[in-house]
Amino acid sequence: MIGQAKRLAELVKNETQYFDAKNKTIAVTSGKGGTGKSFFILNLAYQLSLMGKRVLLIDMDSNLANIDVMLNITSEITISDFLQNRVLLKELPTNVRPNMDVIFGDSGRLKLPEKRREIIDYLFLSLQRLENNYDKILIDTGAGVQADGLYILSKVDIITLLINPDPTSVMDGYALTKLFLNEYGKREIGVVVNKCDNKEEGETSFKNINTATTHFLKTSLKYLGTINYDNDVYRSIKEQVIFSEEYPGSELVTQIKNIARNSLLNKSKVL
Ligand SMILES: Nc1ncnc2c1ncn2[C@@H]1O[C@H](COP(=O)(O)OP(=O)(O)O)[C@@H](O)[C@H]1O
Ligand SMILES: [Mg+2]
Repeated sequence: MIGQAKRLAELVKNETQYFDAKNKTIAVTSGKGGTGKSFFILNLAYQLSLMGKRVLLIDMDSNLANIDVMLNITSEITISDFLQNRVLLKELPTNVRPNMDVIFGDSGRLKLPEKRREIIDYLFLSLQRLENNYDKILIDTGAGVQADGLYILSKVDIITLLINPDPTSVMDGYALTKLFLNEYGKREIGVVVNKCDNKEEGETSFKNINTATTHFLKTSLKYLGTINYDNDVYRSIKEQVIFSEEYPGSELVTQIKNIARNSLLNKSKVL
């Protein structure tokens, strides 16, 4: 294992090419589970693919990987096989829709060997080699309080924090932001508020978290948009279909499209 870690470290060191500032990689995170990260990122990926962008979605939630279940696809090889050095990253993407590939996760079995940071560095290095195949690489992370989760966030171009409008979720989001900024310094973080009654509720929640980060952490956040609560989301997950494919006329789809455009143009609304 030590030999392997050393080899990976060398590979990373020798690589001179880095992701440029194309805002290519996007990770979605939250303070706690259940905020809707997997629902959101799957639908974001789908909308971007419809806009003609070539998208790679990677399920990196080590505890509750579930993009495969949401798509009703049984995956033979997963990100674990790569992280344990059994396959190359380029062998992993499965094409699930036109313009849309997925690298599936491995619930509960994603045991990173020691030297975790080197392994994550190796993952991002391998992603650089795939980057010409894709316009956007989206990463579904677990609820981000573990060190590995924070390190993954530190490596992407755009960090998207998903919160819900209830005060505990806003607090959890704030706590995660604080941990991250303390560890990695100032970074731009975008916020999406999911499961709202309406736009106003989302904007109020954003203002609350942004007031706290601006005051206590001296960092203002970017508002990327609000997504309403809708019972059809649960139905789509139970039926293992992509929500925006099944309910293309829903208001949520318009909201997700707007967020997709904001993330493409790197635009955010000032509230
Ligand atoms: N906008 C929404 N409206 C209604 N239910 C939602 C919405 N977003 C997510 N959910 C529900 O919340 C639960 C958790 O979603 P999931 O995407 O698995 O969260 P996470 O990946 O953050 O743990 C699911 O049961 C899903 O149906
Ligand atoms: Mg999830």
